[in-house]
Amino acid sequence: MSQSQTYAPNPEFAARAQVKSIEEYRALYERAKTDPERFWADLALKELTWFRPFGQTLEWQAPFAKWFSGGKINASYNCLDRHLTTARKQKPAFIFEGEPGDQRVITYQELHHLVSRFATVLKQLGYQSADRAIIYMPMIPELPVAMLACARLGITHSVVFGGFSAEALKARILDLNATVVITADGGWRRGREVRLKDAVDEALEDCPDVRHVVVYRRTGSAIPMKEGRDHWWHELDAQLSNDPFIHHEAENCPAEELDSEHPLYVLYTSGTTGKPKGILHTTAGYLLQTAITMKWIFDLREDDVYWCTADIGWVTGHSYIVYGPLTAGATCILYEGAPDYPAFDRFWQIVEKYRVSIFYTSPTAIRALIKQGERWPEAHDLSSLRLLGSVGEPINPAAWEWYNRVIGKERCPIVDTWWQTETGAIMISAMPGAIPTKPGSATLPLPGIVADIVDHNGAPVPANREGYLVIRQPWPSMIRNIWGDPKRFQEQYWSRVPSAYFTGDAARRDEDGYFWVLGRVDDVMNVSGHRLSTMEVESALVHHPAVAEAAVVGKPHEITGQAVCCFVTLKQGDWNHQVLGNELRQWVAHEIGPFARPDEIRITDALPKTRSGKIMRRLLREIVTTHAVTGDVTTLEDLTVVTKLASQQDEE
Ligand code: WTA
Repeated sequence: MSQSQTYAPNPEFAARAQVKSIEEYRALYERAKTDPERFWADLALKELTWFRPFGQTLEWQAPFAKWFSGGKINASYNCLDRHLTTARKQKPAFIFEGEPGDQRVITYQELHHLVSRFATVLKQLGYQSADRAIIYMPMIPELPVAMLACARLGITHSVVFGGFSAEALKARILDLNATVVITADGGWRRGREVRLKDAVDEALEDCPDVRHVVVYRRTGSAIPMKEGRDHWWHELDAQLSNDPFIHHEAENCPAEELDSEHPLYVLYTSGTTGKPKGILHTTAGYLLQTAITMKWIFDLREDDVYWCTADIGWVTGHSYIVYGPLTAGATCILYEGAPDYPAFDRFWQIVEKYRVSIFYTSPTAIRALIKQGERWPEAHDLSSLRLLGSVGEPINPAAWEWYNRVIGKERCPIVDTWWQTETGAIMISAMPGAIPTKPGSATLPLPGIVADIVDHNGAPVPANREGYLVIRQPWPSMIRNIWGDPKRFQEQYWSRVPSAYFTGDAARRDEDGYFWVLGRVDDVMNVSGHRLSTMEVESALVHHPAVAEAAVVGKPHEITGQAVCCFVTLKQGDWNHQVLGNELRQWVAHEIGPFARPDEIRITDALPKTRSGKIMRRLLREIVTTHAVTGDVTTLEDLTVVTKLASQQDEE
């Protein structure tokens, strides 16, 4: 890829950037490489506020890491309280816009107030450090308020994306053994109400350990409230004022002094089996790396208006709407709804209205907007933008070029940020004032991150060869464990190649050392930048009474990157294929969530299997990608199955 175009950093941008040149980047990288512990320890003391400083920087007993042991810290304190003694007290922390157009500006002081009161509410209900809360809310300010209130008390939270179904919610409540659910009546999406509380009620039929449900009133629609279990947020809040002592405490609820390794949150993500895994992140290391990347990658300045368009229900929202930006003292836009509602210029309207300077979105969103044409962004003044970011999947060079030309007006650097739920924070990305970019490449690893590309023995592969992307040394925001399943944690991430963290991504590195991430090597699909396991969809399908077997693969899709394509065989019966196809798509949406709805259901007589009975997904992938099968089929039990499937495709 040496021919691909290289864009040097914009000199005007570089002159004011926090990291100003490639030499400066290299010097930082070298310093981190020579003495990583010293490097991270210095940063941790500088960037975070500690109740008690840590003793040891890193205790590493692979694969278990402890960062900043002995330190006492609180994430909510670092996001809020420490800013109140500075000019940031009156600075907006969030500028919220609801989908219907309602607005709220919440300063750091006001956010602190809301968090302090809600933490007191949780205390009054009897919750404390080491309890676990599920948060299932729309993208409104009370979502980060709930997260920060939990963090303030040491309650480990797990945010479940509002697009997940009652079934998925239930699985997460049970796996985490949560005892409280924080939710809302509903939220707005494309003009319709997403009824969250209904899903909570359905999920809780089988979750006896949940003692309380706190419900924020967002849409105002009628919902049933279960006596003794369900409480309105505003009523609990109002009760705080009845008792003068509690009222006083609610105004300034102290942040618990927690260990550096206190479990901050668990976020469920799809893995290679049907069961989602709870990725555990802890406090100090996670905060450090999310905050420092706000400076290194987003070049955050005091007067920036920063907007990450992700949903807080995914890791991008945790790290780059809540914990990173607030620790760094940023002003963040929080937008509730869809990018195309009421029209395709909603993003650009918001950028213009609030003078957004840093904009971070996904390739899927960019491709969807490209399709609508340039007149939508052109109708708006985008001159406030100074930096653009991308995350979630490889950005194809055509989308990169459009983003650069139409949105960035060839003025704004683009940072293509590679990372994962498991890495907690950005790992490979350009530093916008320092690193020349090449469209489609995430460029170089951050200081302190030792990324490599290896074969299955762990040996580095030569330049421009494809291999597994691995990380060779521990980093502060790394996954600490899979909730309740250390064995799976070890097997999944630390056993696939010797002594390195296995990312599950394939990549290659060019002769300049630039990383080009190619996609997943496991059974994980990436649909609109959302991770979805093929097994998860398969197990949903085989729950349906008509389905005998199912095999699911990701199929290339122009806008969403990949789309879900399902091959199913049926049980005996008289099925109308077309009706059943629609029903199965709906079924998957109900079992997992609307975002997982299959693009295609192919009903077939048989699935290609090895002689030992394993479904050969590789062949199915090939069929949906190339419409033919070229690979090795010697282990295939019945070759006619494949020929038939491939020809079925040609008939379409
Ligand atoms: C993919 C999202 C190429 C990758 C932060 C990874 C990317 C998975 C990029 C993690 C990028 C994310 N270029 N691929 N810039 N960013 N990915 O856990 O396959 O939802 O393993 O975290 O998304 O998805 P996750």
